[in-house]
Parts: sequence; C-alpha cells; structure tokens
Amino acid sequence: MKLERDSLRALETALGQLEHGFAGLPEVSAGPPDSAAMAAVLGRAATRLQDNYPYFHPLYAGQMLKPPHPVARTAYALAMWLNPNNHALDGGRASSAMEVEAVAEIAAMFGLPRHLGHLTSGGTVANLEALWVGRRLAEEAGRAALVLCSEQAHYTHTRISAVLGMRCETVACDERGRMSVSALQSRLRQAQAGHAFVTVVATFGTTAVGAIDPIGEIVQLQLQYGFRLHVDAAYGGYFVLASGPGDGLAAAADAIAQADSFVIDPHKHGLQPYGCGCVLFRDPTVGRFYKHDSPYTYFSSSQLHLGEITLECSRAGAAAAALWTTQQLLPLKRGGEFAGMLDNCLAAARDLHARLADDARFIPMHAPQLDIVCWAAPAPSLEESSRRAQAIFAAAAKLDLHLALVELPARFFPALPAQSKSGATLTCLRSVLMKPEHKAWLPQIWQRLSQAANTM
Ligand SMILES: Cc1ncc(COP(=O)(O)O)c(C=O)c1O
Repeated sequence: MKLERDSLRALETALGQLEHGFAGLPEVSAGPPDSAAMAAVLGRAATRLQDNYPYFHPLYAGQMLKPPHPVARTAYALAMWLNPNNHALDGGRASSAMEVEAVAEIAAMFGLPRHLGHLTSGGTVANLEALWVGRRLAEEAGRAALVLCSEQAHYTHTRISAVLGMRCETVACDERGRMSVSALQSRLRQAQAGHAFVTVVATFGTTAVGAIDPIGEIVQLQLQYGFRLHVDAAYGGYFVLASGPGDGLAAAADAIAQADSFVIDPHKHGLQPYGCGCVLFRDPTVGRFYKHDSPYTYFSSSQLHLGEITLECSRAGAAAAALWTTQQLLPLKRGGEFAGMLDNCLAAARDLHARLADDARFIPMHAPQLDIVCWAAPAPSLEESSRRAQAIFAAAAKLDLHLALVELPARFFPALPAQSKSGATLTCLRSVLMKPEHKAWLPQIWQRLSQAANTM
C-alpha cells in the first residue's frame, strides 16, 4: 500500500466522540443525499488527482512539498464535520482556543517571553502582516518606510512591499546565499542619513538554497542602527529545534528571539495541510494597529476574537485544530520526536551533498545549511551546464526520482571556473529533502540520480 489509511479508523472513532458532544440535539438525516452519485464523482476526482507528482513518496525530492502528518490530516478532517471559522468566537470557540495554545507553543519554541500572534492562510499573508505593522510604525513615527531584504529573500517581500506602498531594496548576498552584513551596513548608513524607518527582513532558510542569514550579526547592527528586524522563517523556522552540528544554524537560532516579528509556516515543515502560516510579534502592543469596528461579528463574547488581531477575516478553524493536535502528539521540543525528524532531513541533505562532492559528474554548491541541496552539471559553458541540468532532471523523472530546477548565480559554485562567474546565472538541480524518510532513502535516490546522469 502506498497511501496511508490506518488513520481512517482513528477518524471514525474521533467522529463518534465529537458527535457525543451534541447528543442532546434532535436527530437529522445522516449521510450524503445520493451516495452512489457521490462515490462516482469522488472516483472521478481521484482519477483527476492522479495527475500529480507523488509528493507523499520519498522519491519525490523536488520542491518544498510534502503531505501532512496523518494526525494533522485526521484532525483537519474531524474538524470539517463542523467547519469552524476562527475569525470570531461565534464561528469557532474551541478551535480559536486551540489556535491560541498552538501559537503560544510556537512562540515558546522561538524563546519569546511575550508575544502577539496568530495563524494565517500561509507565509505570504503572514509576511504581509509583519511588513504592514512596520509600515504602521513608520507612519506613527512620521518617517518614510523602507524594507531591506537580501537578493535571495523570497520574492514575496518585494511584491508585498509594492502592495503596501513601501520602498523595498535588496541587499547583496555572499557566495553561500546569505545576506552580506557589510552590504547591509552600508545600506543602513544611507537609510540613517535619509531618516527612513527601516524594516530589515532576515531569512532563516532561503527558499532556493536553504541559506540562513547571519541573524546574530544583524542583531548587533540593530543595536547600532535601531531598525525593525523581521525574520522570515517560513520554511526554516522549525530547525531551531534541530540538534545537528548545523553550520550557522545554532548561532542564528540563539539570536532569533531578538527579532521584532517572525513568520513560520506550519504548512511547510510543521507537518500541516496547506492553509497554515503563522505570524508572531515580540511586542503585543502592535495589536493596536488591527483595531476595527465590526457591526455584525463579535457578539458572543467580550473575550478577544482572533479576527480583532488578524488582517484576514474568515480562516479555517480546522487548520488550528490540526496544528494543535499535531503539537500534542509531537511537541515542539529539542531532542523530541519531531526534532528528530528535522535532524533526519539535515542528515539526508549532508549525505547527498557529500556524495555529489565526491563525484566528478556533479558540481555541488557549498555544504547545505538546512535540507536543500543544489548542484550544477559540469560543462564547457554555463548554457551547456544548464541544458545538462535540465536533461538530468528529465531523465531522473523517468526513473521516478523527482527533483527540482533552480536558476542560481554562478558564483555560488566554488568549482566553476572564475571567468564564468561575474553576475552570470545558470540552471541547476535542486532537491528539498524535507521528509524524514529521505535519510533512509538516500542510497536509492543516489542510485537513480547516478543512473540519470549516466544517460548524458
Ligand atoms: C522563505 C519563504 N517565505 C515566504 C514564502 C511564501 O509562503 P507561502 O507559499 O506559504 O505563501 C515561502 C514559500 O516557499 C518561503 O520559502
């Protein structure tokens, strides 16, 4: 069997328990209106869904994609029988409380003594809220808002800044894809002279190569230049729990609690279905910016409704139920089972990098900081190298090994000839080894990659 089904039994049992809570209500007719018709269209949906890469399988080692943990899937499905809406306590009393608890556990993972935070539909909206708060603070201070993020930051920051009407500039990276502290410092000097209100976006795990910006050094600059620091840890945030040697990881994890705002995506490494991002603020008083009057929403309780501290209105209470349940089973603890899964991902990435470095058929980037590995194909020119990378990608897919492609600066590859590097980019292979099973599957992954490369 390829698709896990045992959780269906647990769902059946949990549904019985859920129903028990509503036992006093009069009966309503159960079951779908026409179960044969429903089975038929579900069968068609299943057939349509076959046209996907097998994200659940360890041989899918391409983009940042994986299915949720069975407990998250089951808890989400369970909540679907109610479909709570966490905008207001009227719509989702229990799931709002679960959201508050689950978010507090994430804040504790980052070492925050106090926080304001909530779930969002994803990393983009979570980052939007963090930058929006930066803009509101700039307005309060009567200064122009400026966002500084690295050239390897997720493209969402440039786009969100445009949506928010904020100026956004990119800062150069070093040859490992990390924000250059000296480039940031010279940009901060100019911003200081222009009296701009700066939000620096540091990325804890860049999307393309999994680089960790030097957050400890950026925090030192913050003491000198007094900017607002936002950490985009949408992909990498959970790695603060990892115990591996982690080049630059431990230092950044220690400094992260100094940031003013944070984004982490439970729907990436937090084992959740899509629709689950999270934004956190170190200073809870920024909640004042969210204040609004709603003539129709908040009547059932004088307690805080999550819609009073979110930009989005309707949000899936099921996402909160799934996250809460997952964190009950797999607490966010160093040395715990969940942290062990992340350690396995790091080990898989290091294993793949070591194999690539030992093999003349490949040119790897520097050693990975997290669980993303990138490598190029040797060739007389960058164009030819890009073409070969695309050919290996296609040949691997024919062998059921699904990788990804990425366009990267040539200077990220130490073994490429110096003359080919200045400002040029090339298409490379990329693998996000974000399933803990990738560690055990690495020999099989390597065997298929090797076979694909031999076809060149
Ligand atoms: C670092 C980073 N920030 C933001 C995002 C955007 O998040 P989402 O796709 O959940 O909107 C991503 C997505 O990969 C990311 O890796």
